[in-house]
Amino acid sequence: MNSPKGLELVERDAGGVDLAFRADVLAGLAEQQKAIPARWFYDDAGSQLFEDITRLPEYYPTRAETEILRARAGEIAQLIGPGRAVVEFGSGSSVKTPLLLSAIAPAAYVPLDIAGDFLRAAAADLAAKFPGLPVWPVEADFMRRVELPDAVEGQPKLGFFPGSTIGNMVARTATDLLRSMRETLGVGALLLIGMDLVKDTDVLIAAYDDAAGVTARFNRNLIHRINRELDGDIPAELFAHEARWNDTYARIEMHLVAGADVSFTVSGRRFAMLAGESIHTENSHKFTRRTANMLLAAGGWEPRARWTDSENRFSLLLAEARPPRSAP
Ligand code: TRP
Repeated sequence: MNSPKGLELVERDAGGVDLAFRADVLAGLAEQQKAIPARWFYDDAGSQLFEDITRLPEYYPTRAETEILRARAGEIAQLIGPGRAVVEFGSGSSVKTPLLLSAIAPAAYVPLDIAGDFLRAAAADLAAKFPGLPVWPVEADFMRRVELPDAVEGQPKLGFFPGSTIGNMVARTATDLLRSMRETLGVGALLLIGMDLVKDTDVLIAAYDDAAGVTARFNRNLIHRINRELDGDIPAELFAHEARWNDTYARIEMHLVAGADVSFTVSGRRFAMLAGESIHTENSHKFTRRTANMLLAAGGWEPRARWTDSENRFSLLLAEARPPRSAP
């Protein structure tokens, strides 16, 4: 594996505290409806728990998206063509990423992630599976424009953003991210992006509240991370995991609901919650064909193709960053 170029380090204080993490948590806990951005789920333990979620019987998105990549690899490869540098927003999964890379004959693979250790492990794995493919991991927050390694500068790009991670952002943030991706990848780039579909509410809720309790552990891991990294004393065992359908925004919400009145300290600040109050930890928006296209267009990407799995649960879309033009 090649060494990373353009490394972007996380800002920390003298005690090693991630300043952005602390700012987000303190601001979120001070809100009326307490809320913490979902990106903070993914420390090493959270990333591992998420891998476990993808194997749950109730959690269909990973299997559905993988099915699409397998069944439609030929068509997808035909539209993308060979010789692109694949820029993956996230560390990559051991199943989906190899499926894409072996379908399209890429020029290089550039995984972007904020979780540095997980990123390097995943990149090393991938490099071992594809000898001869240059792999350039970049530790970066891809919510902003990312400086790509010099080695891929002249190459046409394919952004890869599977897993319906775009659905974990509210519309405004999702639009900002799509625009940043466009800046990172440049005009002429393609984007292959997964978006989960609106469907029966019971099926959706079960996917985010599995019988084995893995998603509950994933949700609660955020509390453990806060306690460990931000010197907190939140009583994790008093918080129940809950998945709710919000019909206004067509999204599943995950909450950590206080089972009793509690007060706790994080980074020296005191917070109190009443029984039944919650910390909102995650949104997972679900799309239709039209809302998916609308979101892509708002972010500067023109929809080019769309595939769904055999049960119509999940969609994979190919979009293009077209030169700016004045439209009516
Ligand atoms: N983006 C995926 C989804 O919304 C994966 C994911 C993100 C997820 N956060 C999650 C899955 C929390 C389960 C629980 O489904």
